[in-house]
Amino acid sequence: MGAATHTQDELKAMAARAALAYVEPGQVIGVGTGSTVNHFLDALAQSGLDVRGAVSSSEASSQRLRALGIAVHDSNAVADLSVYIDGADEIDGSGCMIKGGGAALTREKIVAALARRFICVADQSKQVQVLGRFALPVEVIPMAAAHIGRRFAAGVCGTSGRAVLREGPEGPLVTDNGQHLLDVHGLQITDPLAFEQTVNQWPGVVTVGVFAQHRASVCLLATQDGVQTLNFEAGPPSADC
Ligand code: A5P
Repeated sequence: MGAATHTQDELKAMAARAALAYVEPGQVIGVGTGSTVNHFLDALAQSGLDVRGAVSSSEASSQRLRALGIAVHDSNAVADLSVYIDGADEIDGSGCMIKGGGAALTREKIVAALARRFICVADQSKQVQVLGRFALPVEVIPMAAAHIGRRFAAGVCGTSGRAVLREGPEGPLVTDNGQHLLDVHGLQITDPLAFEQTVNQWPGVVTVGVFAQHRASVCLLATQDGVQTLNFEAGPPSADC
């Protein structure tokens, strides 16, 4: 009989449980969005770890936090967070990520910026050599969507892609911030920091889903052989001046 294999959801739950080791009682923590984070919130509630509360990156996570009896704090009332725990759609070998599959990328980047450490929780399917197999989410001001789509088609930082407006139940999806989302297919992002900085300058871009400036400090990557801890804290400094 072959070795038992874990489903993707079991792997997500394994990574999420491992993140409890980065949480201390009495802290206000940052929490992201998505199915892996949902596992983390469930594990946190079951752990008995008495956190003071959380700053959340989405309405969906805030609702789940409240349902679990964990206080949700306003990001403006918090000067900094010791830790931010979130998933990713892709993560490369230096801890740079694509995020925003759950449409929460703008608030995720804000909460990540408040945190001293970003703990990424992911299953092994999220690990890539080069970012871009997952269509890159870009939150945009609606009137700029077509123009930004043309700029991706024309090329940026040595790659180009096809932008598709993300649809919701009743027309274009509207984010928690009242904006639209493009998903850009076919990119190969070989210099995530330069790519992020360049696209950030385009008028009408609210947030690009490349997390290079606020990349993962640590990735807890769940594999069939257990959870690997990938540490990126010794990597190159961010470009913050
Ligand atoms: C949410 O906008 C994303 O950035 C999520 O972190 C990402 O989609 C991971 O989601 P799962 O944990 O559901 O795979």
